[in-house]
Amino acid sequence: FSEFLTDNFNRQHDYLRISVTERCNLRCLYCMPEEGVPLSPQSHLLTSPEIYYLSSLFVSQGVTKIRLTGGEPTVRKDIVPLMQSIGSLRKNGLRELALTTNGISLHRKLDKMVEAGLTGVNISLDTLDPFQFQIMTRRKGFDAVMKSIDRVLEMNKLGAGIKLKLNCVVMRGLNEREIIPFVELGREKDIEVRFIEYMPFDGNKWSEKKMLSYQEMLEIIRMKYPELRRVRGHKNDTSKTYEIPGFVGKMGFITSMTHNFCGSCNRLRITSDGNLKVCLFGNSEVSLRDLLRQDNNGEPINEDTFEAMKQLEMNRRQGLLSADSRPSWGEREVELLNVIG
Ligand code: GTP
Ligand code: 5AD
Ligand code: SF4
Repeated sequence: FSEFLTDNFNRQHDYLRISVTERCNLRCLYCMPEEGVPLSPQSHLLTSPEIYYLSSLFVSQGVTKIRLTGGEPTVRKDIVPLMQSIGSLRKNGLRELALTTNGISLHRKLDKMVEAGLTGVNISLDTLDPFQFQIMTRRKGFDAVMKSIDRVLEMNKLGAGIKLKLNCVVMRGLNEREIIPFVELGREKDIEVRFIEYMPFDGNKWSEKKMLSYQEMLEIIRMKYPELRRVRGHKNDTSKTYEIPGFVGKMGFITSMTHNFCGSCNRLRITSDGNLKVCLFGNSEVSLRDLLRQDNNGEPINEDTFEAMKQLEMNRRQGLLSADSRPSWGEREVELLNVIG
């Protein structure tokens, strides 16, 4: 494993998240304003050959998992060919190729993606009620998302082995009554439903009152299912996993607001305009795009990139310290959460 991707806390950064677009075909209340987010000029965004090049560089240094995110990754026109090219890195050590999507158009592209090497899909779905879906996403599309979920399950029956998770952001007064129906999806379906604490994003009018904490969600589930029990997750999971004996599926909680998980974070992030970030809360970025586009006489960008990563790592250490002692969510965190992808 490359020493460049191991930090002073001995965390090995073998998981790379790449945002392939800022655009999205939904307008979830907790994520974007109705008018959408300001978009960067096309020339600032990474091209597919650049994304492939960076992926291969990181895989050569020990990255074994790549997750494509957005915005909504499937709105990128060449998402399938892009995944085919990244999928070819399996021969170089890439073990997992995953996608975080809202599921609106996934069902149309899924078969090709699986052929390309897709191993996991996280689908964002906050409600099982079509009417409520339209309120929370400000768009229609519930049936399309369900179709995508069914298609993944169908392919799994045929042996595709795609790890399927649903991401459900819980907001008081909107969808907290749906926690139990979501849990019950797991009775017969092999899905992991992850309940996410609502986080402040710039402009999403976050208020602590609208957030349901992990503890509160657990209590709601325990009232109905006292046999709920914690299961050991994977080392670098962002979520805490639980199960109900007899259920096929599992559930998880992403507790970004009440329990941070910085100590085990192994993620590297590349934004759609090519900035590398090691920490969601770190304020430092380095432009891999600019390094790629400057004339390197055909030399790979390794040296520059890894030098920059060392610097980022120093910043991350400071970020970690301040994250641990973070008293409350200030404006800086709100601003930084925007880069989550
Ligand atoms: P896997 O563990 O690979 O399944 O995916 P994931 O949970 O990292 O990714 P996904 O894109 O499904 O994101 C789910 C939620 O995790 C999002 O709501 C993010 O808010 C949250 N998240 C992802 N990475 C981080 C992180 O490094 N820090 C914090 N605080 N939240 C994160
Ligand atoms: N709070 C919590 N989760 C959020 N997501 C987007 N915005 C927020 C927010 N304000 C989630 C989406 C998606 C994941 C990548 O991030 O639901 O599943
Ligand atoms: Fe789009 Fe995901 Fe944001 Fe919803 S949460 S608007 S699906 S990027």
